[in-house]
Amino acid sequence: MNRLAPSILSADFSQLGRQVETIETAGADLIHVDVMDGHFVPNISFGAPVMKSLLGRTELPFDVHLMIEHPDDYIREFATDHTEYITVHAEACVHLHRTVQMIRSCGIKAGVALNPATPISVLDCILEDLDMVLIMSVNPGFGGQKFIPCALNKIRSLRQLSQERNPKLAIEVDGGITLDNVREVTESGADIIVAGSSVFGAAEIPQRVGEFQAILKEE
Ligand code: DX5
Ligand code: ZN
Repeated sequence: MNRLAPSILSADFSQLGRQVETIETAGADLIHVDVMDGHFVPNISFGAPVMKSLLGRTELPFDVHLMIEHPDDYIREFATDHTEYITVHAEACVHLHRTVQMIRSCGIKAGVALNPATPISVLDCILEDLDMVLIMSVNPGFGGQKFIPCALNKIRSLRQLSQERNPKLAIEVDGGITLDNVREVTESGADIIVAGSSVFGAAEIPQRVGEFQAILKEE
């Protein structure tokens, strides 16, 4: 079953708690938490205290996307009872295998994200150890960018590879997803869809969540 993970990067931070309640009531599946450090990506977002301030406001699991250097230093801070995934970037990890084991040792599912220019071959020696691969369909750093179509080929290749080597692997796709292209993304093999500006930028957020879910749950 496909899942929708709205990214709170595009939320109105002045009413974050309320907006998270809104997307939960509307039927979102996960809360995508985009953490940016101003080094790995050219933007700073927020850290673990902001995410933790949502504990108690929502029952939705956190889907943490760390766009930061030295992620090992921060993994424990993001490992709450409500954290389902922690995803690190392959490009930011010198010892990727160690980082993935660290996530798993916290009892959290481990994901690895790949930038648009990073081939899936970098996961060749680690595919069986992963719970999720996040295919970036924009260069990370900002919400509201345009979907890079080459991501579709990557999703298809990864789906094929995972069927042979890790059938339980979840494939998440992040960046530039709209109502117009989401079907193509899921048909290529994605399980989890991140949507930031197309959810929180909508005039009616609950209605937009419903529109996404109508497409995601039809398959
Ligand atoms: C990009 C982030 C994304 C982003 C998605 O660096 O990882 O999660 O917020 O936003 P949209 O859906 O607006 O591209
Ligand atoms: Zn993200």
